[in-house]
Amino acid sequence: MELFATVHVAFITSLLFSVFKLIMCQDQVTTPGTVFVTEGEIATFYCRFDPSNLVALDWKKGEDVNTAVSLIRLFKTRTIRGDDLRVDMTRNYSLTINETTQADSGVYWCQVTLQGVFESSTNLTVSPGKKKLVYI
Ligand SMILES: *[C@@H]1O[C@H](CO)[C@@H](O)[C@H](O)[C@H]1NC(C)=O
Ligand SMILES: *[C@@H]1O[C@H](CO)[C@@H](O)[C@H](O)[C@H]1NC(C)=O
Ligand SMILES: *[C@@H]1O[C@H](CO)[C@@H](O)[C@H](O)[C@H]1NC(C)=O
Repeated sequence: MELFATVHVAFITSLLFSVFKLIMCQDQVTTPGTVFVTEGEIATFYCRFDPSNLVALDWKKGEDVNTAVSLIRLFKTRTIRGDDLRVDMTRNYSLTINETTQADSGVYWCQVTLQGVFESSTNLTVSPGKKKLVYI
């Protein structure tokens, strides 16, 4: 009876912990906090999550995840590209942006659909490159 009660408590504790983790969801997906590049360089953002239950992944740009614009996304095994030809996704789901300009600075989101939808943001800062010399 006592053993049963102990097992019971352990079970309830682990159940509560799972529910808590589900509510927090913060460790479901992670991205870098910030990325710094100089104009012209490639910006790379990793996105870490457990890919075993991956249904869809969406890399977006914008302050608010709900209104952010999709740059490139994956649905099951299909990659759906946006209009920006400099944007690509590596096999490990990292977002890459070639030939960055200062206009690329901003907030980027990796939004994944597993058994629920989870996201994580990264701020990109592109600093000015070396000024080109102009001879008149
Ligand atoms: C980005 O640049 C790398 C290295 O120059 C190149 O291999 C890659 O194909 C480029 N990606 C895109 C989407 O243009
Ligand atoms: C994913 O691949 C890119 C280059 O292909 C690498 O820079 C990055 O560290 C990798 N990220 C992870 C999470 O393995
Ligand atoms: C990222 O940018 C947003 C909006 O510009 C800002 O509110 C937030 O504090 C920034 N986060 C970091 C880690 O710099």
